Amino acid sequence: MAYRELQDRIRRLLKEKNALLLAHNYQRAEIQEIADLTGDSYELSVKASKTQADTIVFCGVRFMAESAKILSPGKTVLLPNPRAGCPMADMITAQQVEQLRAQYPDASVVSYVNTNADVKALSDVCCTSSNAVSIVRAVPARKVIFIPDKNLGSYVRKFVDKEMIIWDGYCPTHHHVYPAEVQRLKEQYPDAPFVCHPECRPEVVALADKVTSTSGIIKFTQEDPHRRFIIGTEEGILYQLRKNSPGKEFHLASYGFICPNMKRTRLEDVLLALEKNQEEIKLPPAIIEKARLPLERMIEMGAAALSG
Ligand code: 13P
Ligand code: SF4
Repeated sequence: MAYRELQDRIRRLLKEKNALLLAHNYQRAEIQEIADLTGDSYELSVKASKTQADTIVFCGVRFMAESAKILSPGKTVLLPNPRAGCPMADMITAQQVEQLRAQYPDASVVSYVNTNADVKALSDVCCTSSNAVSIVRAVPARKVIFIPDKNLGSYVRKFVDKEMIIWDGYCPTHHHVYPAEVQRLKEQYPDAPFVCHPECRPEVVALADKVTSTSGIIKFTQEDPHRRFIIGTEEGILYQLRKNSPGKEFHLASYGFICPNMKRTRLEDVLLALEKNQEEIKLPPAIIEKARLPLERMIEMGAAALSG
């Protein structure tokens, strides 16, 4: 089936089922094109919690669809490709969080939303890349266990006066970008600001003119007067960058800057998901109940942009 026809059929089914299509900024362009809402992890979790739709079709990765289910347990949440996971989320288990809690009983656990539901259930508050600094600052405890991203954790550490115990997880896609590649691009385009995601390694973040979430990158490049930019995040963002800043030029910081999991979802999966109600996210009620609190706390505490 031609992709336009697939898109039309998806849009028709969404309407018939009172369903909402959410797409992360890294999704394939043909999916972002027909989404009701696009955004970064924070925006999508807030939007998912407010929708009146009966069904949420979440085009992103599993932890995002799980967060939508946790915030809207009465709704049907579909993850069109069940293999779309996040390797960083799988780098820490609930048992390891329990061990950390036992080791540091006076510390609060701040978990990046890139975690599985059972890990969120053991956390005090969640954060995303757009609010991590303000959330860690706002936590009353002097000691914070920050999981699972060591790169985001080291970035936050620079701006808070707290003891931080940082887990050794990382995003394979962002972690494998190296300063030499960025330096080369900076030499090639000396006028271009380098805008990067805090999941990049500290040596790369140190070269950035701006460090922010995916939606923060879209906003920054829109408002900044420069005509070209070096972009330190996954290539799916190019769709929104070009849409929001026509005429500007974007150069990815690394060749093949791709998250394979974000690319698993295709239009065919979205159509099948709607036709067959698959894969429906199902979580144990006790996990939903416990994981809701840290997510709701994040939404209450943390509309603030990544600062520092
Ligand atoms: P954002 O919250 O900035 O969209 O990031 C999500 C993510 O998975 C980055 O790799
Ligand atoms: Fe996970 Fe990295 Fe992919 Fe984001 S880009 S979903 S952190 S693997």
